[in-house]
Amino acid sequence: MKEKINVFDYAELISKSLRPGILLNSNGDKFNSMVIGWGHLGVIWGMDTFCVYVRRSRYTKSQIDKTGAFTVSVPLYGRPDENINMICGTKSGKDINKADYLTLVDAEKNNVPGIREYPITIECQVIYSQDQILENIPQDIRERYYANEDADNFHTLYIGKIVSAYIIKED
Ligand SMILES: Cc1cc2nc3c(=O)[nH]c(=O)nc-3n(C[C@H](O)[C@H](O)[C@H](O)COP(=O)(O)O)c2cc1C
Repeated sequence: MKEKINVFDYAELISKSLRPGILLNSNGDKFNSMVIGWGHLGVIWGMDTFCVYVRRSRYTKSQIDKTGAFTVSVPLYGRPDENINMICGTKSGKDINKADYLTLVDAEKNNVPGIREYPITIECQVIYSQDQILENIPQDIRERYYANEDADNFHTLYIGKIVSAYIIKED
């Protein structure tokens, strides 16, 4: 069962859940999910949106680029499942099938499933994306995040228009 929500009623919980990690789901060649710690809920061009930042090397990037859609999944009490976070935050969909470790729930609108274990679900359609321009980033941050083997591994910002938001509940 899906209980519709006004996602802004959960803004504090969602924001506080970012540091421990929430999930960013995609569904291109197959379903995939990765942990994200960067993101924000907001409004642009009169639309409710969720922004995510995905490094170029992630399997997730290729999948969002293919479909223009993603779903964000947040644990209800802000505490991620350690096993799920370990798998989705360290393994790549290039190498494993992460759907084997999750209970997927069909999407309502964007064809990217939610996850029963992380019930707060935000379905998004990409309305804007932009690769970071490294020279616009302060030098100390550039050195910390985009040096050596990551010199070309910048993040892409995806602004997702929220097309549906709900909590997955037991039937
Ligand atoms: C707490 C935490 C936060 C993370 N935040 C991000 C993020 O915001 N953006 C990103 O590109 N990678 C982030 N990562 C790394 C990805 O989750 C990780 O590289 C993942 O294995 C990529 O999966 P994929 O190749 O299947 O897309 C984070 C990892 C952890 C553990």
